[in-house]
Order: sequence, then C-alpha cells, then structure tokens
Amino acid sequence: MTGRLEGKVALITGGASGMGRATAELFAAEGAAVAVTDFDEGLGREVADGIVRTGGRAGFWQMDVSKEAAVASAVASATAEFGGLDILVNCAGIIGVDKPTHEVTEEEWDALFAVDVKGVFFATKHAVPHLIERGGGSIVNFSSIYGLIGNDEFTPYHVAKGAVTMQTRQDAASYGRYGIRVNSVHPSTVLTPLVEGIAAEYPGGLSAYEEMMTANQSIRRLGRPEDVAYGVLYLASDESTWVTGVALPLDGGYTAR
Ligand SMILES: NC(=O)c1ccc[n+]([C@@H]2O[C@H](COP(=O)([O-])OP(=O)(O)OC[C@H]3O[C@@H](n4cnc5c(N)ncnc54)[C@H](O)[C@@H]3O)[C@@H](O)[C@H]2O)c1
Repeated sequence: MTGRLEGKVALITGGASGMGRATAELFAAEGAAVAVTDFDEGLGREVADGIVRTGGRAGFWQMDVSKEAAVASAVASATAEFGGLDILVNCAGIIGVDKPTHEVTEEEWDALFAVDVKGVFFATKHAVPHLIERGGGSIVNFSSIYGLIGNDEFTPYHVAKGAVTMQTRQDAASYGRYGIRVNSVHPSTVLTPLVEGIAAEYPGGLSAYEEMMTANQSIRRLGRPEDVAYGVLYLASDESTWVTGVALPLDGGYTAR
C-alpha cells in the first residue's frame, strides 16, 4: 500500500464489474474511501464488502445512471457518509446494438445514449457542487478508442463515446476555475464481462477474437482491467494536478498506428 489517494473520497459508477471494479479496488488499496455505485446490487455489494474485508473503506449505493433522481440521491448519501467528495469516475457503460446508422432504431439509440452519455452528465452534474465545496477535485470519464476514431461496428456506442470525449473537454474548460480537473481514458479492447460475451460468440472463440482485435495494436494482447485502472489512478491523484482536458489512450498502441 503506497497511499497515492490517502484521505480522498471517490465515487465510481459501474463499480461492480470490469474496469470499474478494478478501479474501486485499486483506489481503496491506495487509501481512498470508495463509494461503489452500480445498477447491479449483488455484484456491487460484493465489491464493497470485499474492500472492507481487506481493511479498506467502501460502501455500496445502488443507482441507475440514466435516472437523475437516483443519481442525485446516491451522490448525496455517499458524500454525507464519507464527509465530502474528491474524485468522480464515470465508468458505467453499455455497448448496445452492433448496427450501422441506417439500421438503428430510435429506441436503440435513446437507450444507449441514456446510459453512456446522459449517465455521465447526471453524475457530473450532481458531483460537481461537492467538488467545488471541497475546493477542487478530479473527474475521470470512460470513453474508448472509439471516442477518438471510428470503425465499422457498434455505431451508437462509438458516437456516444465521442460525446463523452467532448463532455470531458467542455467540463475541463468550465471547471478549471474551481480547481476541478476533468480527463478521459480511452481503452482499446479490455477483457471484462462486457467483452467476454462478444468474444465467446466469435468464430474460433477468445484466442481468435484476441488475434483479430489486436491486429492493429503494437502490444498484441487484450487489455486487463488493471492496465486501465492504473491510468485512472494517475488522473485521479494529486500526481496529475496540472493535467486537465486530456484524452488518454490506454490501448496497447492502437491509436498510434
Ligand atoms: N471492455 C472494453 O473493451 C472497453 C473498451 C473501451 C471502453 N470501455 C468502457 O469502459 C467502461 C467499463 O466497461 P467494462 O468493460 O468494465 O464493462 P462491464 O460490463 O464489466 O462493467 C460495466 C458496469 O456498468 C454497470 N452499468 C451498466 N448500466 C448501468 C446503469 N444504467 N447504471 C449503473 N450502472 C450500470 C454494469 O452493471 C457493470 O457493473 C464502460 O463505460 C465501457 O463502455 C470498455
């Protein structure tokens, strides 16, 4: 334990699984009190309880990021419990339908944007007053390499992640005066439950999927949740107090080529 987040309070959306979970566990190991929030109550409680069992500080708050009242109440309650807020990590996300624009229904588009775009808006909206009260803080948004570049799959998801990239820059510009930094991370394919389902259905299974997905990476392996969590840790910590509005690819070199 090196205490890179000693004394900080962090709220993580989508903290029950994958990269949100890895981030919650790493933050707690680095000394933060962590509010794990998620749609999934069973898994979310498991993560928070696991942190507490290993000597960390954590609690779980159930919330659907697409519902403003639920977000407002979870943020207020977690902040009251831990006595303030220093860090917000917007990690909750869904991938939606794999269709090109002309095949996507309005319902499919709205359902995806409700979580991946509006969820970031709601959590940021309700966290910012607490960060201002604290005299500053850090927000880290999960975008994707596909919030920087396009490809021929999952169109609504990629457009939504582009919106998250821009929300990050806009909020970085708006909140610098309050000492609030806002940055985004852009993973390429990371082996989490979100991707495991897609890989399982790919002809040839996981190893064929890995070979195909990493064909344009310099480091030809799928990401691990902790590869990304360490990038989030840097942006959340006081090691990056001069860093804001940055889009950090954590992608094995995908976007460099
Ligand atoms: N896995 C990848 O390859 C990859 C790559 C780039 C970006 N991302 C992004 O990283 C983030 C984390 O992805 P992951 O792969 O760890 O996914 P995951 O599916 O393992 O975890 C996502 C979590 O978000 C929660 N969630 C979903 N909808 C929610 C809602 N409406 N309200 C609250 N919680 C909700 C889920 O319950 C789950 O616990 C997402 O924003 C995803 O889009 C993932």
